[in-house]
Amino acid sequence: MHPWCLLIHASGGPEGGGKPLTRQNTQNYICRANNREFSIHAPMSSTPPATPRGLEGVVAANTRLSDVRGDIGELIYCGYNINELAGQVSYEEVVHLLHHNHLPNRRELEELKATLAGFRELPQGVIEIVQTLPKDTPPMHAVRTLISALGCFDTTCDDDSQHSQRRKALRLIAQIPVVTAYFHRHRQGLPLVHPNPALGEAANFLSMITGHAPSRDQENTMDMCYVLHADHGMNASTFSARVTIATLSDMYSAVTTAIGTLKGPLHGGANEGVIKMLQEIGSLEQVDAYIEEALAQKKKIMGIGHRIYKVLDPRAPHLKRMAQKLSESLGESKWIQMSERIAELMLSRKNLHANVDFYSATVYYSLGIPTDLFTPIFAIARTSGWTAHVLEQLADNRLIRPQSNYNGPVGLKVTPIEQR
Ligand code: COA
Repeated sequence: MHPWCLLIHASGGPEGGGKPLTRQNTQNYICRANNREFSIHAPMSSTPPATPRGLEGVVAANTRLSDVRGDIGELIYCGYNINELAGQVSYEEVVHLLHHNHLPNRRELEELKATLAGFRELPQGVIEIVQTLPKDTPPMHAVRTLISALGCFDTTCDDDSQHSQRRKALRLIAQIPVVTAYFHRHRQGLPLVHPNPALGEAANFLSMITGHAPSRDQENTMDMCYVLHADHGMNASTFSARVTIATLSDMYSAVTTAIGTLKGPLHGGANEGVIKMLQEIGSLEQVDAYIEEALAQKKKIMGIGHRIYKVLDPRAPHLKRMAQKLSESLGESKWIQMSERIAELMLSRKNLHANVDFYSATVYYSLGIPTDLFTPIFAIARTSGWTAHVLEQLADNRLIRPQSNYNGPVGLKVTPIEQR
């Protein structure tokens, strides 16, 4: 029997609940169906199987960093459930966890904080680039460009020693909030607020964008958002960072790639889309009609649905609680009420749950953060995860180079240009 016929048979065919195929090496394939695994040997010359759309179900790497358990709604960072970490550890502790695989003791934490604070100042050349960017540049474009520019001012950019890679990872974690805040101040025509080494990551960023120190509550809220966004398995931007570094490119290129990937509305850009949608709907009374019409037009509702989570995204309840608390303290319950109604409708109509972007949007909005900084904030927090994945990829690297399934014509003959 031809190997692919065997595969289709083993997976029960398209209706048989068979999961996509995973290529194990050049000649062996693993097929999973009905909780059973089949190992198939196929010669290189065989026609490859149909590719799962969007690589759904394909395992692209082994990682010790985080695990997304979509069927039971769990997120694990290096062995710790996110519910265990949220509210108990700071973002800096999570950075240490992702980069060293264990939570820091007091001394390690103080050292890390001092290192990050010491790395915040930008090279003068990058500050000059910030000031030449058009003020109407969307912040994600600006952040992507400035992270790339940071590589031009780091003479160790192509130094691939482990020490240098780790140093660059921490520099990026420390500098991405600074480029974001500098650009934000520049576009408003306001003087730049320089980083304050006495403040932690969350408080420093808030003070750099607003020009004044945040309250303890605001700092804690932002810190918790950073913790919840730090890493998330093989999400699209992390995958792109790993693909880039697997060519033995450099840390700045990998993070630049990841930022470009995060920007899209199907990934990190969704949080901005949530607020735009809430503003477009306008009031609680309009929610039902808006959602019905959007669904009738097959429009996607931002902040709803997830490729991996088939139950509630475990980050969403934390963000929802924060959004509720902030709304109460501001005496402005409209946005959270509208969000809750949208989530309720989407669950009953489509069996789709809110994801991380849904309530984080209301949290940032309630903190007074401009809508177009929501996705850059996601990038700031996720830089800890991206860089940890880059270091992990480098520790056991192999070029990531999948195949494509050519389904175009063959044997065409060139018609002379005058006759085309
Ligand atoms: N609003 C309305 N319908 C949605 C939806 C949403 N937010 N998310 C998924 N669906 C529907 C699709 O229309 C499709 O329905 P159909 O089978 O009747 O055509 C089905 O659910 C599967 O959607 P699909 O886009 O193929 O799922 P995916 O796994 O490729 O996509 C997301 C996952 C996250 C990209 C998708 O849910 C989405 O676009 N969500 C909105 C953007 C967002 O919040 N992104 C942030 C993710 S953390």
